[in-house]
Amino acid sequence: MVYNKDYFELDGVKIYIENLENYIAESYLLLSNHNRYNEFNLHKYINQEKRKEYFDILVQAYLHNYNNIRELLASVKPHVEVDNILNVNTNRDNVVNMTLKDYVYLQRDWCYYEDGENQIVKTIKSIQNVLPSDMENALFLGCGVGRLAVEFSNIFTKIYATDKSYSMIWHINKLLSEGNFEFYTPQEKNVYSLENVAQKHTASISDNLKTKIQDKVEFFVSDVLDLPIQKECMDAVFSIYFTDVIALKLWFEKINNIIIKDGYFIHFGPLDYFFSAESEMLTAKEFKTFFEENGYETVTDEIVETSHLNDSNSFSYKVYRNWLFIAKKNY
Ligand SMILES: C[S@@+](CC[C@H](N)C(=O)[O-])C[C@H]1O[C@@H](n2cnc3c(N)ncnc32)[C@H](O)[C@@H]1O
Repeated sequence: MVYNKDYFELDGVKIYIENLENYIAESYLLLSNHNRYNEFNLHKYINQEKRKEYFDILVQAYLHNYNNIRELLASVKPHVEVDNILNVNTNRDNVVNMTLKDYVYLQRDWCYYEDGENQIVKTIKSIQNVLPSDMENALFLGCGVGRLAVEFSNIFTKIYATDKSYSMIWHINKLLSEGNFEFYTPQEKNVYSLENVAQKHTASISDNLKTKIQDKVEFFVSDVLDLPIQKECMDAVFSIYFTDVIALKLWFEKINNIIIKDGYFIHFGPLDYFFSAESEMLTAKEFKTFFEENGYETVTDEIVETSHLNDSNSFSYKVYRNWLFIAKKNY
């Protein structure tokens, strides 16, 4: 048994968070704020005379997304207390993202577009080239909607994948328990033609892969600052596009505690730092030194360039020079 506490289940999502009432209120507020944004755009774009076709496309897209989020909200609402909503901390450094990123990750992870697949394949190959291919357990921090974690199920007996976002885990569960999931990532600008303004995306997982995931991957909600995992039971901890979400000093001990001797820590990403304290925005070299001073030996320190969350409908295109850092725990 790798867990060290019990979970609360909400609409099939396993939640290992201590202050559950606050967490649920925070999740509800985030989702309803996001739906206000959908609603705002609907009001703005509806009944426009000029460029009617363009606005109709956008209205259809935002309306569809709005109804999707309403379904999610309906699952949370019965558990929300008004007092807890009023207590939600809305400061900028609150690590539950203020905007909903789920759809851009769903688009990359489970829609099988060429750009997304290229990013995924390059990322996992660069890591799998270095790691042994027969390990027991791995934990993925901030796993999003999970494709990268799933891709490693070939080299681990069991994968544990966690994210603090209720909706990320809800979406992966939804794909596992139902068929297709449809959504839009509208682009008002940077597009060639009306077809590119709001292409409908369909996310899905094949039945074969669903069976494999149900067998080998466990998704759950938890906070990296309070992982529900026993000491020294993970052969590897992955931080892919996660290291820059929270300062290393806040979570190093949490993951160091659960990695076994000779186990691995894997970082992949650009050190983009989404918090405001410059004192914690370590360079790659400082990050590496920190690990070496705390009992790890560097196995890999290299740059892997990939596009990032790229949508081929858009003229705008992001490329990251990702830092790949793999360290092995000596003591
Ligand atoms: C930039 S995204 C990366 C997603 C995923 N690793 C991928 O590359 O597809 C960062 C993720 O970390 C999650 N996150 C933020 N704070 C967290 C925390 N304290 N504990 C666990 N996950 C967290 C976010 O919800 C988000 O899904």
